[in-house]
Amino acid sequence: MSASLLSWIRPEILSASPYPLERIPEGALRLDAMENPFDLPPEIHQRLGEDLADLPLNRYPDGSAQELKNLLGPSLFGLPPDHLFLGNGSDEILLNLFLATPGPILLAEPTFSMYRIIANITARKVETVTLSPDLTLDMTALIAASKKVKPSLILLSHPNNPTGLELVEEEMRQLCKDFSGGILLDEAYYPFSRRTLLPLQREFPQLMILRTFSKMGLAALRLGILAADPKIVSELNKIRLPYNLDAMTQRAAVIICREFLPVLNEQVKWIVGLREELAASLRRLPGIEPLPSSANFLLVRVNGANSTEVYRQLAEHKIIIRDVSRQHPLLAGCLRITVGTREENEHLVSALELILKGLK
Ligand SMILES: Cc1ncc(COP(=O)(O)O)c(C=O)c1O
Repeated sequence: MSASLLSWIRPEILSASPYPLERIPEGALRLDAMENPFDLPPEIHQRLGEDLADLPLNRYPDGSAQELKNLLGPSLFGLPPDHLFLGNGSDEILLNLFLATPGPILLAEPTFSMYRIIANITARKVETVTLSPDLTLDMTALIAASKKVKPSLILLSHPNNPTGLELVEEEMRQLCKDFSGGILLDEAYYPFSRRTLLPLQREFPQLMILRTFSKMGLAALRLGILAADPKIVSELNKIRLPYNLDAMTQRAAVIICREFLPVLNEQVKWIVGLREELAASLRRLPGIEPLPSSANFLLVRVNGANSTEVYRQLAEHKIIIRDVSRQHPLLAGCLRITVGTREENEHLVSALELILKGLK
């Protein structure tokens, strides 16, 4: 009569693995998570510290994050605050969106692995189309799949992680014309690409735009932002847990947006320049082929050596990148490298040169 301890847990959870958050050795160079390598200057930390010191910790935060939405709506999207839905990172927004959907979620893979993980934990069926061999989206195939599988939601990343490639506006317009269910565009890397498909939302209110503070330099805050039709926002607010954004995140984000956005924008511009420098240096290494990228990372194909071995040896040099070679057949032999500071990038390139010589 001894029922298994875990018998009450859904089978898809039992068979899942936690998101791979590897233990990073002390002092390692992290080029795996698309973080901004530059922290904010000490004066800004000081300013934030002084302000946050006065926050009452005995009170719940503002559950509607109204002050922050009042600020972000106009400044980030040119939209009133009722178009915004905020989450504890964009991952939480994805979770809320998936919980709202009754039918399948259609993805174009390879893409951000969290989409599948969140679909799995919310027991949502995933349908996929495969990107073209050059890793661009085959819109004809996507539209055909949308007619066949009738998804509740189509989710695309623009630019895509891990390819770094963008969607084509005219093709997206066609998709919006042909598909009336939810369409979510994850623009996590918009700060680097500076190209948004937000204007299409005026014509097609089923289009939602997802952004995050993480990639432009505030990953520690955990703040994701969805811009959507207010009717969609109202429904999502029924799913959102009441105080999903803590008081410190709200306050810090308000101060940074009011006073320090130009500092982050400068860093982002600098990172875009460093990305091109890094791509040029990598291209000079034998067998290393970086793909063009509109984001703050490069997808790199390794020819003539085992990419996983390259990844492993870089880790031995305490340089952590992401081995995506087993994520999808189209990514065989591929590694994803986040752009670091100039010194960090040079360190990576020297280590890579050494490793490739040894593997010849
Ligand atoms: C496409 C994409 N969307 C969302 C995220 C996660 O963002 P957040 O830190 O806001 O949860 C990432 C992180 O790598 C990403 O690549």
